[in-house]
Amino acid sequence: MKFDTPATTNPIDQLRVVGKPTDRIDGPHKATGTAPYAYERHDVARNQAYGYVVGAGIGKGRIMSMDTPAARRAPGVLAIVTAANAGKLGKGQRNTAALLGGPEIQHYHQAVALVVAETFEQARAAAQMIRVRYTAGKGAFDLAAARDAAVAPKGDDFSGKPETAVGDFAGSFAAAPVQLDATYTTPDQSHAMMEPHASIAAWNGDRLTLWTANQMIAWGREDLAATLGIPKENVRVISPYIGGGFGGKLFVRAEALLAALGARAAGRPVKVALTRPLMFNNTTHRPATIQRIRIGTTRDGKITAIAHESWSGDLPGGGPETAVQQTRLLYAGANRMTALRLATLDLPEGNAMRAPGEAPGMMALEIAIDEIAEKAGIDPVQFRILNDTQVDPEKPARPFSQRQFVQCLRLGAERFGWQARNPKPGATKAGQWLVGMGVASAFRNNLVMKSGARVGVDKGGRVIVETDMTDIGTGSYTVIAQTAAEMLGVPIEQVVVRLGDSSFPVSAGSGGQWGANSATSGVYAACVKLRQLLAQRAGLSVNATDAVFEGGQIRAGGRSVPLAQAAGEGVTAEDTVEFGDLDKQYQQSTFGAHFVEVGVDMATAEIRVRRMLAVCAAGRILNPKSARSQVIGAMTMGVGAALMEELAIDKRVGFFVNHDLAGYEVPVHADIPHQEVIFLDEVDPISSPMKAKGVGELGICGVGAAVANAIYHATGVRVRDYPITLDKLLAGMPTMV
Ligand code: MOS
Repeated sequence: MKFDTPATTNPIDQLRVVGKPTDRIDGPHKATGTAPYAYERHDVARNQAYGYVVGAGIGKGRIMSMDTPAARRAPGVLAIVTAANAGKLGKGQRNTAALLGGPEIQHYHQAVALVVAETFEQARAAAQMIRVRYTAGKGAFDLAAARDAAVAPKGDDFSGKPETAVGDFAGSFAAAPVQLDATYTTPDQSHAMMEPHASIAAWNGDRLTLWTANQMIAWGREDLAATLGIPKENVRVISPYIGGGFGGKLFVRAEALLAALGARAAGRPVKVALTRPLMFNNTTHRPATIQRIRIGTTRDGKITAIAHESWSGDLPGGGPETAVQQTRLLYAGANRMTALRLATLDLPEGNAMRAPGEAPGMMALEIAIDEIAEKAGIDPVQFRILNDTQVDPEKPARPFSQRQFVQCLRLGAERFGWQARNPKPGATKAGQWLVGMGVASAFRNNLVMKSGARVGVDKGGRVIVETDMTDIGTGSYTVIAQTAAEMLGVPIEQVVVRLGDSSFPVSAGSGGQWGANSATSGVYAACVKLRQLLAQRAGLSVNATDAVFEGGQIRAGGRSVPLAQAAGEGVTAEDTVEFGDLDKQYQQSTFGAHFVEVGVDMATAEIRVRRMLAVCAAGRILNPKSARSQVIGAMTMGVGAALMEELAIDKRVGFFVNHDLAGYEVPVHADIPHQEVIFLDEVDPISSPMKAKGVGELGICGVGAAVANAIYHATGVRVRDYPITLDKLLAGMPTMV
């Protein structure tokens, strides 16, 4: 199905199943331990051996020698894989550094060896016996130091252009009566998902099966095949349950490759999980940014000039953190400029983490908006409303498909009690606490991706959906089941959803908040075909649009046939939704507003979030229950970004020091207070036949700044360097009276 004209009325609009708050159909499996993760697949291959990964002990340089014989002779050891004996390896299109390093080392904890043994303990013990001698090269590990050498990045995959300019920014900014010129920094962050990267590999002749944890089955299959130098048809990737990804599992990683190589070397299936302390430096992370924002307004607060420049770093061949993305689209203003600058760093590989671009970009932009609103003497909610635009401000002929940004701000302000806020910073007290309220916009682009599915009805009348779509904890199983149930007129209990297997049609996968909308659109497309087939088989109609699918029956022309009867021995249809250029004609984005109240301890400057509200406008909400879970999870992650998360770099050696969950802090339950989420009624027929959009990443965009703005309002101390820890507040705290 080609989706290149706006959707008209279709069976999804009945909203009998879609749009209803629905429990996750995989929930009972998750809760009873019957939804196994990759490392737990003891059932899939006999005689599994264990692999243990050795990571490089330098950030850049070369291996001079590697002493493995003692390890090889250790009890239970079956094989040791290194670059020296692995044979020629290619590199996946989406990997920046080699997954198996040596002799050249590109980053700290780059894998240099895999020890395979009968037990995990034997593999781990033997791994400690490997002696590696390195010659350390001089690496660049400091973004601030590398900033002046940064250049405009090449390529514009998901990042758009490296630079944009409209009108005369410099002149208009210089002439503006109200000006802000401020620089903000965000640190390197880690996905730190609960389930580590884990894979089991088994060879059957020259065919490889990999049970793994991966968000993008087709990408993983392609890149693993390319790395091994075998046809992708010889690789099967299976990943039905995933314990969190956040972008960290978008790409095939070292444990998958090493499991495959280890299994080949040992001649039997091998399972490998990265240990927690390896994950932070071995896999990808969200790169740190330095962001300079300049905004000029008229005396009454209309933006006349806005510029956003962002610096980030990555390994050679890597890409930028596209933190200026939202500034191209969020606010009006005739004179504008954005620029991305990429420095070469030898830190571990940077890449996508939940809402790449907008998440750190909004952390900076939305403090800047708070600051300029204050300078202009305008309430920050009002300032945002005043500077709304209904068209792409860089290309005014291009409207937004839907933009209920102002509605989000207004409703949020009303529900949060913004009216009661004393605009003066540092002036609201409650016991030992200074109390502040902050607001920030939420913005994230809506991406769509080609997505396929196979849907069938078996002779018992069960509906079976198969697609290589993944569920990373997001609720994919459920929204897909809702879609098929709606289209075929059966209760959701009658739908069986099978995901995460490369033998199923290629889907959009889970990334960039495109998953739910794109994957259900693929299921919709397959269901449209299946309805046609079923109506024909029932002898009711050649035109499926005339047939009504309801209550397990197909009805047309006053006759009615049970679905199971029409299916006979079983019938299956497959299709792929492909998106035309509607996203070029219209700007598709998702919007929201975040409101946060914090308390800051007057004596210690300890920060406590007291309540949070998000109002979101993101197309049709397919399942309000799982969508809410996505948004509150994202809000929680936003609090982490605001107050805790930071990979601390040892700039001498080039590694993230706090590489475990004791040192890398994320919010726990006690850090998160009452959270509320409101979805505005919206359908977006430009986006897809589902009329939905993404929401899982919208929820994090802006949260950090809303927290920062609330802290400023509470204390009068403006911190522009994340995370906002109490040491950054103490010196500026108001004196106690
Ligand atoms: Mo997302 S960072 O594209 O998983």
